Amino acid sequence: MQPHESPMTITRLMAMKSAGQKITMLTAYDYTMARLLDEAGVDGLLVGDSLAMVVQGHPTTLPATMEQMLYHAEMVGRAVRRCLVVVDMPFMSYQLGIRDALANAGRVLKQTRCQAVKLEGGAELAETIAALVQAGIPVMAHIGLRPQMIHQSGGYTVQRNRQQLLQDAQAVQQAGAFSILLECIPSDLAAEITGSVQVPTIGIGAGAGCDGQIQVIHDLLGLTLGRLPRHAKAYADLKAAIQQAVAQYCQEVRQGVFPSQDQSFL
Ligand code: KIV
Repeated sequence: MQPHESPMTITRLMAMKSAGQKITMLTAYDYTMARLLDEAGVDGLLVGDSLAMVVQGHPTTLPATMEQMLYHAEMVGRAVRRCLVVVDMPFMSYQLGIRDALANAGRVLKQTRCQAVKLEGGAELAETIAALVQAGIPVMAHIGLRPQMIHQSGGYTVQRNRQQLLQDAQAVQQAGAFSILLECIPSDLAAEITGSVQVPTIGIGAGAGCDGQIQVIHDLLGLTLGRLPRHAKAYADLKAAIQQAVAQYCQEVRQGVFPSQDQSFL
């Protein structure tokens, strides 16, 4: 299947589900990477609050702020030509009430070129999602493992509450979410959820039965500093490539090999 050439829209994502075409998404946090991923043919990008971990070095996503999300979203939004770009609403940017959620999500659409926001939550967020959608802000809902709830849930574990997750999926769909991200859910349950909703599901650690997949770009490229999560697959080893290139550069500078005549001016 060739990547689409014209810009991706939420309507088109929904049509992909109906046509049984798998949706590809990756995280992106800056201009260069977003351009490369867009040009490589991915359908959607997420400016994830995972940037608190993979860019800033925090142990959780909780420290990401609204200002930081906007800063990164603006760079990613400027880079893409085709992808749909979704921006994570960070911890405490939508939990304080619908007014706050509208104001913060509105900034994403006004200040960046990104087209949608993502909120972690199910049935309890239905009113908030409905208010955003009514205001013209497309929402991707995120159910299953919710990293912003880490201190409440006690760990990054697989979520198995079948009835709750099925209810959550129905509730966010009814509220108007255009897509549902399913994180760390058993494959059979994720497939059941996918079959029970009309909007596309995007999985991470949720098996092949989802309508699409998303991965953190650092994991995909082999840039993970700790253990690679069980749900991730490294398609390249850029960590080794970077360290090898830097070691060679240092050696050549120390030996007087770099710069050579080719890199010097007469
Ligand atoms: O912030 C993030 O990277 C996410 C992942 C689940 C894709 O939400």
